[in-house]
Amino acid sequence: MFMNADAKLEAARAELAATYDLAPSDAAMRDTAAIYDKVRRVIPEADWMLHAPYVRAINALKAQKDAVILAHNYMTPEIFHGVADVAGDSLQLAIEATKVPQQVIVQCGVHFMAETSKVLNPAKTVLIPDSRAGCSLASSITAADVETMRAQYPGAPVVSYVNTTAEVKAVSDVCCTSSNAVQIVNAMEADTVIMTPDGWLARNVANQTDKRVVWWEGSCIVHERFTPEELRAYREADPETAIIAHPECTPAVVAEADFTGSTAAMINWVKVNKPAKVVMVTECSMSDNVAAEAPETDFIRPCNICPHMKRITLENILWSLHSGEEEVTVPDHLIAPARAAVEKMIALTA
Ligand code: 13P
Ligand code: SF4
Repeated sequence: MFMNADAKLEAARAELAATYDLAPSDAAMRDTAAIYDKVRRVIPEADWMLHAPYVRAINALKAQKDAVILAHNYMTPEIFHGVADVAGDSLQLAIEATKVPQQVIVQCGVHFMAETSKVLNPAKTVLIPDSRAGCSLASSITAADVETMRAQYPGAPVVSYVNTTAEVKAVSDVCCTSSNAVQIVNAMEADTVIMTPDGWLARNVANQTDKRVVWWEGSCIVHERFTPEELRAYREADPETAIIAHPECTPAVVAEADFTGSTAAMINWVKVNKPAKVVMVTECSMSDNVAAEAPETDFIRPCNICPHMKRITLENILWSLHSGEEEVTVPDHLIAPARAAVEKMIALTA
């Protein structure tokens, strides 16, 4: 019988409640006390009361199902610190996906990340707790668009950001992430390099390479919203404030920053430099995740949320592990070429 989305959600909730002990309890608080110690700076105890039974159930079920949770740095703290086995930026998650021994990968991130795990592990089961978790960059370009760019710049290699579908990766020469984009572009033999789909990342790379970089005009709905004016206002309010930015921001924003790097590089910068005050110019949850571990730093939060990343919750992670939904598949003919583009990136980065 056809069930609408609300009825399906209610049925899933009822099945979870009947199978696991999900009511807030002192026992769940005790069982998760060591984890809560890591996040108490950023999650009030009343909220943890609600999270604790899910964290406990997910961690127990992972072992039973031979599953590993790969989580992006933009996951909320209860996921990032509570249930992730590996947390990182896109490059770290892709590399770890090639190494994990478990048969099931639960990707807590967006759909292109789960596809990347699948093309690197075609024989494994890859699950995403909500397949609607997309990305404005990945949805901005198709394989046909890549071919159009190739026709425009004959002989120029295509470097595609990992924030692309498997279909786009499959027609690209190599992938890159925010942590290795300059390195990958410099490794290309041609003088002209096509970068897709992030026009702002491409412009930032163009400012750091002698290659002629041409690009597709995609953008990230989170990072394109930051402005140099708002960052200057933070600095004027307190000149000691450190500003660190993700390279999906515009070059004008990057020019205001003390440091620019991938999400993992930004986290590392805060841990190493221990600034008294910092603005992390990126998605909101990053500041929460680092703040949990950096008591000496005061985080100013210009809060731009990625609605796609926020589709992943403890509840749908538990459902995914319990039910095996939603399995990520990539058509057979795309697996080898998409994998080649990702593996070439990993090899060039190593
Ligand atoms: P990172 O690879 O730096 O984690 O970036 C991924 C992403 O989607 C940022 O918006
Ligand atoms: Fe895509 Fe931007 Fe969300 Fe990252 S933050 S997943 S680039 S929409």
